[in-house]
Amino acid sequence: MTQHTNSPSVLLEENKRLSESALWRMQREYFDKESINAWVNQVPFYITSNPFIAHCYAQIVVNFIIDWTEKHPEAKQHTFYILEPGTGSGRFSFFTIKALVELLAALNMHDIRICYVMSDVTRNNINYYEKHPALQPYIEKNLIDFAIYNMETDKPITLLRQHIHLYPKTLQNPLIVFANYIFDTISHDAFTVHEKKLYELLISLKTETANLEGNRPVNLEKLETVYHIREAKPNYYSDPVLNDILAQYKAELHESSLLFPIGSFHAIKYLKKISNDKLLIISTDKGYSTLKSLDYHGHPSLSFHGSFSMMVNFHALAYYFKNTGGDAFLQTARKGIKTSIFCAGLNLDSLPRTHQAVQQYIEGFSPSDYFTLHRRVSDSFTECDLDTIASHMHLTRWDPHMYLKIKNRIISLVPEADPETLEFMAANMPKLAEHFYHLPKTECVLFEIGVFYHAIKQYQEALDYYEKSLPYIGEQFSLCYNIALCYHQLGDNEAALLQFKKARELNPDSKESEEWITYLEKQGDGEGEEGEEDKEEKE
Ligand SMILES: C[S@@+](CC[C@H](N)C(=O)[O-])C[C@H]1O[C@@H](n2cnc3c(N)ncnc32)[C@H](O)[C@@H]1O
Repeated sequence: MTQHTNSPSVLLEENKRLSESALWRMQREYFDKESINAWVNQVPFYITSNPFIAHCYAQIVVNFIIDWTEKHPEAKQHTFYILEPGTGSGRFSFFTIKALVELLAALNMHDIRICYVMSDVTRNNINYYEKHPALQPYIEKNLIDFAIYNMETDKPITLLRQHIHLYPKTLQNPLIVFANYIFDTISHDAFTVHEKKLYELLISLKTETANLEGNRPVNLEKLETVYHIREAKPNYYSDPVLNDILAQYKAELHESSLLFPIGSFHAIKYLKKISNDKLLIISTDKGYSTLKSLDYHGHPSLSFHGSFSMMVNFHALAYYFKNTGGDAFLQTARKGIKTSIFCAGLNLDSLPRTHQAVQQYIEGFSPSDYFTLHRRVSDSFTECDLDTIASHMHLTRWDPHMYLKIKNRIISLVPEADPETLEFMAANMPKLAEHFYHLPKTECVLFEIGVFYHAIKQYQEALDYYEKSLPYIGEQFSLCYNIALCYHQLGDNEAALLQFKKARELNPDSKESEEWITYLEKQGDGEGEEGEEDKEEKE
C-alpha cells in the first residue's frame, strides 16, 4: 500500500527482497514493545481466540491421538507436545487446553500425556502467561509450558519450566502445531507473473520524518511502501520443491502478483527436522487456497492494525506438504478466514478419525462459518429476543466476549423473558465464568454474571459472582452497592449495612446508599417496618 503525505519523508530502505525487509524486524519490535497491550483494541484476535474454534481444534487433536495410539500403542509412553507459535494474548491457548483436558477426561483417555507449549517471539508475552490466574491449574500440572520461539530462526525451542528442548529425542510422538494468525505475520517474498515470465518484487520503505524516533518508525501505519520489479533468477530458492511451486505459478497464472510464505516455509522445515518429520499443523488465517484465487491480483498490500499482516499463500504450503511425503486439507472457499490442515510424514487417509473430525469441524460448520454468524448477531443483537440470544450464546459455547457485548440487552429482556429461557441461561452461567480469561482494560464477565443472577433474583449466586469479581475490578461503588442489595435480600442486614457504608464512601453523592443506610439503621434499632416496599423498588 502506498500512502501519500505532505510532510518530508525519509527513505528507510530501497529495493529489498520482501523477506529481507526491515518490516519484519519492526513487526517483532512492535509486539515486543506492546506485549499484551497489543490486544487492547489494536490487533484483531477474536476470530482465532474463541471457545468455538478451540473446541474444533481440540476435537481434531483428540481424534488424532486416538488414531495414532491405535497404530502405535507405545506412543502412550510419550508426551504429545502441542506447540503454539506466536501465541499472542493466550486466550486461544486457554480455551484449547481446557477443551482438550475435558475431552480426554470424557473419553477416559487418562493414560495420554499432553503438554501445551505457549510460545512467542517476545518474552514479555510469556511473562504475562506465566502469571495468568486462568492458566495456573494447567501450569501446576505441567499441562502447559512456555518457550521463546522466533519462527524466522532455528534456535532450539526450550521449555522454560521443564527445561526440555523440543528435538527428535523428546518428540517421540508427532508434534502438533497450532498456527493461527501467524503465517500472515512472518516474512513473505513477493512475485509477479506477467506474460509467462516471473519477476521478483523488491520493496522500498519510506516514512515521514515526524514518524521517526531514533531512526525507527513509531507508527507502522505511516510507512509508505513502493514495489520495484526485476526478473527472477532461475532456481530462485535452494529448495527444488519451492522452485517447482514458482514454476507452476509462472506457467499457469495469467497475470498476477502473489506472496510466497518463505518465513513459514523456514519454520515448517525446522519443525519437521526437530519432530522426526512427523507434524500435524492446524492453521487459521486469511489467505488463498487455490491457484485460481491467486490469479489477477495487483501488488500485495500490508493491512495495518497496530501490527501488520499479509495474505497467506495456503496453496503453496499445501503443495509443499503434498510433495514432500505429507498431506494437506484445505477447506472449500469461504469469505474471510480459512482453516487448513498440514501433515508431514502422515497421510490423512490413514488417520480415519482425524479425517472424519476434519470433515466435521473444518469442512463442516467451521470456525470461519461461526465467525460469519457471530458477526451478524453481534451487529443486530438489539433486534434479537432473549431466546435467540440464548441460542447464540450456546453456539458460542458461552463466550464471555460475546456476553459482554450484549449484556445490557440481556438484562433489559429479563423481566418479559420466558422462564425456560431464563432457566437455560442461568444453568449455563457457570460455563461463561469458566471461560473467563482476563485481559487488560476489558470488562469483567464475573461481575456481569452477578448482575444476571441478581436480575433473576438468584441472590446467593449473584453474591458469589460479585465476590469473585472483586480481585479483577477492585472495590468500587456498583460492586459494593449490589453486594449490599444481595445481602439484604438474603436476610443479612448487618452485612448489607456494612457494604452500603462502603458504597457511600466510594460515592459520597449516592443518595440511594444514604437512604439504605438510614433505613437499615432504623431496622437495627427495631424501628421502621414500613418502607420495605419503597426500598425494594429502588433495586
Ligand atoms: C497477529 S498475532 C497472532 C496471535 C495469536 N496467534 C492469535 O491468533 O491471536 C502474532 C503473534 O506472533 C508473534 N510473532 C511475531 N513475529 C514472530 C516470529 N517471527 N516468530 C514467532 N512469533 C512471532 C507476535 O508476538 C504475536 O504474539
